[in-house]
Amino acid sequence: MSAQALLDDIADVGRDRVRGGYSRHVFDAADRELREWFAEQAQRRGLDVERDRNGNLWAWWGTPGPDAVVTGSHLDSVPGGGAFDGPLGVVSALVAVDELRGRGVTPAKPFAVVMFGEEEGGRFGVPCLGSRLLTGSLRADAALRLRDADGVTFAEAAVSAGLDPDRIGPDPEALGRIGRFVELHVEQGRGLIDLGSPIAVGSTVIAHGRWRFTFSGQGNHAGATPMDDRRDPMLPAAETIAAARRLARAVPGARATVGRLVPNPGGTNVIASTVDVWLDARGGDVSSLVADIEQAARVAAAEEGCSVQVRQESHSGEVEFDPGLRDELAGLLGGVPALPTGAGHDAAILSDHVQAAMLYVRNPTGVSHAPEEFAEAADVAAGAGALARVLEHLCR
Ligand code: GLV
Ligand code: MN
Ligand code: MN
Ligand code: MN
Repeated sequence: MSAQALLDDIADVGRDRVRGGYSRHVFDAADRELREWFAEQAQRRGLDVERDRNGNLWAWWGTPGPDAVVTGSHLDSVPGGGAFDGPLGVVSALVAVDELRGRGVTPAKPFAVVMFGEEEGGRFGVPCLGSRLLTGSLRADAALRLRDADGVTFAEAAVSAGLDPDRIGPDPEALGRIGRFVELHVEQGRGLIDLGSPIAVGSTVIAHGRWRFTFSGQGNHAGATPMDDRRDPMLPAAETIAAARRLARAVPGARATVGRLVPNPGGTNVIASTVDVWLDARGGDVSSLVADIEQAARVAAAEEGCSVQVRQESHSGEVEFDPGLRDELAGLLGGVPALPTGAGHDAAILSDHVQAAMLYVRNPTGVSHAPEEFAEAADVAAGAGALARVLEHLCR
């Protein structure tokens, strides 16, 4: 089966009829179906599936052990996301196993395909939740307290998925087995279009994080409350969104996005009592950018007689993938380019602990985290072929 055929196989799972695209979030119905599908595909290939203490799935070719060659990605999506971000890396890994088998290659090292949970943070707000828990870069107690939009805690969701909340957290045994990790991913911008190449190896990931600004005012009646007698938290929220754009534009390479705005209670005829503004900020000196946005938020809140509380929900420093491995793989693939990215990945979380590398596949739309995200079937096949070559080389 080709990587494209495997993508087609899951094309109906988790479609979002309201937003368009896909909404697949950790431990929801779509995620459960995708996990079952992954396990079945792994078993068809004679791989042994295990679920780790944090809910990540591992499919082992042969006996699990140290210095393993591991490849994979995630199957969850952002709300209303595309078909490729995540799944492309998982299906390419499965196809790479087929290709190696077809060539009569049996890995001399332990070998696994992994599927990490909640890479997008689409349900509980922290991206790369599965790999952060595995590596210990997110504390278990903090993770267990995270809440989804319905107020369900991660602890509750984990229990309903059959995990033991007392065992959620760092997993030195699972981490210690990884020798080298390679994640294939659809490219998320115009990088490979501009380079005219179907494939690249990853060079760097910019620093990024998420902050939640909670503005509090006075909930009230939209008709009965005069315009001069309001403390409406939506006002400083709006000013903060505009300030984020203005301030980020003044910092070369910086990005600031508010993609999620949650007014409470959220009625058309109700002045909100609180508004949560979720800020995604990225780039070199992201802390000082966010400090400036926070200052603008405080001024705007005070002007409206509101208060604001700012919490950092996640943070990742800039990552450079192992230059030796990167150059080795680029050479092996005939001198493909090295590409920086503004997107976060499980490979970047793992890179603090193990040698990690990424392969990107061209996205002709240059659009990602949206239904227009795409990869041509020929490029998908080239990506899976490149991954197979890389894995064959690494597992010798
Ligand atoms: C995940 O794709 C992210 O970079 O937000
Ligand atoms: Mn993504
Ligand atoms: Mn991804
Ligand atoms: Mn990502």
